[in-house]
Amino acid sequence: MFKKSFVYLMICMFSAVMVSAAENNCLTCHADFEEEDGPSHLITKDIHIQKGLGCVDCHGGDASLDDMDDVRDSKGYKGVPSYKDVPKFCASCHSDAAYMHDHNPSMPTDQLEKYKTSVHGKQLLKKGDTNVANCISCHTVHQINTAKLPHSSTHPHNIPETCGKCHANTELMKGYGLEATVLEDYKASVHGAALYERGDLSAPVCNDCHGNHGAAPPGVSSLVAVCGTCHAIESELFNNSPHKVAYEENDFPMCMTCHSNHKILKPEDKWIGTEEPALCVECHSTDDGTTGIETAAGISNALKSLVQAQSEAQLALDEAIEKGMATTDAEFKMKELRQSLIQTRTKLHSFNLDSVLPRAEQGMKEADEVKKNSATLIEEFYFRRKGLGVTSLIFTFLIIGLYFLIRKVEKK
Ligand code: HEC
Ligand code: HEC
Ligand code: HEC
Ligand code: HEC
Ligand code: HEC
Ligand code: HEC
Ligand code: HEC
Ligand code: HEC
Ligand code: HEC
Repeated sequence: MFKKSFVYLMICMFSAVMVSAAENNCLTCHADFEEEDGPSHLITKDIHIQKGLGCVDCHGGDASLDDMDDVRDSKGYKGVPSYKDVPKFCASCHSDAAYMHDHNPSMPTDQLEKYKTSVHGKQLLKKGDTNVANCISCHTVHQINTAKLPHSSTHPHNIPETCGKCHANTELMKGYGLEATVLEDYKASVHGAALYERGDLSAPVCNDCHGNHGAAPPGVSSLVAVCGTCHAIESELFNNSPHKVAYEENDFPMCMTCHSNHKILKPEDKWIGTEEPALCVECHSTDDGTTGIETAAGISNALKSLVQAQSEAQLALDEAIEKGMATTDAEFKMKELRQSLIQTRTKLHSFNLDSVLPRAEQGMKEADEVKKNSATLIEEFYFRRKGLGVTSLIFTFLIIGLYFLIRKVEKK
């Protein structure tokens, strides 16, 4: 059923393309002599053709003519824009609010305005630097499409490579004093792992942090605050912590000081404490006159105790499960305990013992409960086994007694 309607849909789409092709000399003639990667072939994947626009809408010229020289001389023929003129070329429609509204009322029309505020836009439009990105470096030409389609150059899965075309080019980046390791770093990060290994589209790619067209993504005044758009709890804790003001005064970038921006690694407990590789010791020492080291030691010890308590609780619970006891309650507590450990790690972003310790202590209580609960279940198991032994002994005696009784009766 599904297959049939799919085939039908394909036939409809194909004949629609054929009809418009027959009416469009540009397409038919170009398709005749162009290779597979020519505009007339690529364009089947382009949203403009899919929405009913043609070669003429972008390039101008008279589509009824059957000679290219005549086309070039025909009215409105724009030809091909230079690299620098591409933004204006695309914006002739995309910044025309009335025109865009007729096609798609929800489509923003601020791409060129925003592009002008970006490093790319400033470099190209003011300095004529053609090494930076213009609209088609990110969107391709003749294969332009919405970011929702998996084959689009702006689909989240493809963005790192789209930006990487230039930003992973060592020669090109050297000229600007920029690192060409961005792509590699991103791929090695927790975010890259979430995207590539788990297909998690909520993980940020380049444009989620840097914005599509503008200097900074929507909703954040500066790139420094961008992590908070997704990691709201850590961000709020940080903003109420002693580091907030201290980092601003010293020009340390908020989260990036400890986590970096592109190669964000999986956090580990050893990052906090009083000796390498703890991050705290990079800036704090026992005699710096602050409570930094004291706090680092306190949080680190609380985390160590909690991890230890968690593994003991898990061992006890596993034994009770193995003995086939009803462990639903203990398992539920175990879940709460795991949550407590996660939240204690999150809470450390307050960099304040008074805020971290109560959360860790709650976790310790949960660990105790799991251990106690499991121990009771295990005791019950042995008690029942003992009980079972005694009962079967009594039964054996009874049966033997009965046997002698019956024999006695039979003899009589
Ligand atoms: C009869 C065949 C034919 C028709 C019809 C035709 N073209 Fe072309 N077009 C060509 C050829 C051949 C070239 C040159 C290719 C080359 O130089 O490699 C070309 C080149 C172009 C170029 C590159 C820039 C330039 O001026 O050389 C553009 C853009 C273009 N055509 C757009 C169009 C559009 C738009 C239409 C319809 C209004 C159209 N063509 C109709 C054959 C055709
Ligand atoms: C959304 C606008 C748009 C549409 C629709 C479009 N083009 Fe283009 N085309 C461009 C732009 C922009 C360039 C400049 C590319 C560059 O600078 O690399 C270009 C370049 C070209 C070129 C010369 C360079 C090349 O890529 O070979 C040809 C030929 C061409 N287009 C033909 C066509 C034909 C034929 C169609 C219809 C099947 C078409 N274009 C539809 C925007 C468009
Ligand atoms: C002739 C007018 C016109 C020109 C020129 C034009 N576009 Fe478009 N563009 C449209 C229309 C119309 C749509 C489809 C809107 C809809 O119906 O959703 C569209 C859609 C798009 C989309 C998909 C947006 C989305 O997410 O749904 C992108 C991306 C895009 N255009 C980029 C470009 C780029 C880049 C250029 C320059 C190479 C360009 N356009 C030139 C009219 C134009
Ligand atoms: C540095 C790369 C880059 C450049 C340069 C760029 N875009 Fe985009 N554009 C994107 C990305 C990425 C998206 C997709 C955002 C999403 O929906 O995830 C996008 C989305 C769009 C959309 C869909 C509507 C919207 O605003 O989200 C249109 C239309 C568009 N771009 C047109 C343009 C035009 C016109 C230019 C040139 C003035 C341009 N873009 C330059 C990367 C770029
Ligand atoms: C066509 C090549 C090209 C593409 C594609 C490209 N860029 Fe760039 N970008 C450059 C160049 C070259 C510079 C250096 C400009 C300068 O510093 O003057 C730059 C600069 C930047 C900067 C500013 C760096 C600074 O100086 O602080 C950021 C951020 C950036 N690009 C992000 C992106 C993102 C995100 C994408 C993809 C959505 C992207 N770029 C796609 C070439 C490109
Ligand atoms: C999780 C957010 C995030 C992601 C994802 C991200 N960036 Fe960045 N990027 C940043 C931050 C934050 C900075 C530092 C800005 C500053 O120091 O002002 C930065 C800096 C840059 C710079 C400036 C030069 C440099 O090396 O410091 C470039 C270029 C850049 N990023 C490109 C990219 C590209 C390309 C991608 C995708 C492969 C990407 N970024 C992914 C957050 C991100
Ligand atoms: C667009 C949303 C988004 C933005 C922006 C973002 N992240 Fe993430 N982050 C995620 C997602 C999704 C995960 C994956 C969570 C998981 O592992 O399941 C993640 C994971 C992490 C992890 C690992 C957490 C763990 O427990 O393993 C760290 C650390 C991290 N991000 C730090 C940052 C920093 C620092 C920034 C800013 C430079 C940032 N993130 C920006 C969404 C985001
Ligand atoms: C002073 C250093 C430092 C700063 C600044 C910092 N973090 Fe962390 N972060 C850590 C340490 C240490 C851990 C390790 C926790 C563990 O695994 O024991 C961590 C763990 C994390 C985690 C994983 C645990 C969790 O909370 O889920 C995320 C996500 C995270 N940080 C995000 C952020 C964000 C977002 C910011 C900025 C608002 C930030 N961090 C600022 C030191 C820092
Ligand atoms: C990049 C440097 C840097 C790193 C890394 C860092 N701190 Fe700090 N921290 C500071 C600065 C600067 C201050 C402000 C000191 C002052 O008030 O003189 C501060 C203040 C503090 C304070 C408040 C001290 C007081 O007495 O008011 C605590 C607590 C603290 N940090 C804990 C930590 C912990 C725990 C870590 C490790 C996870 C850490 N810091 C990592 C730079 C850093």
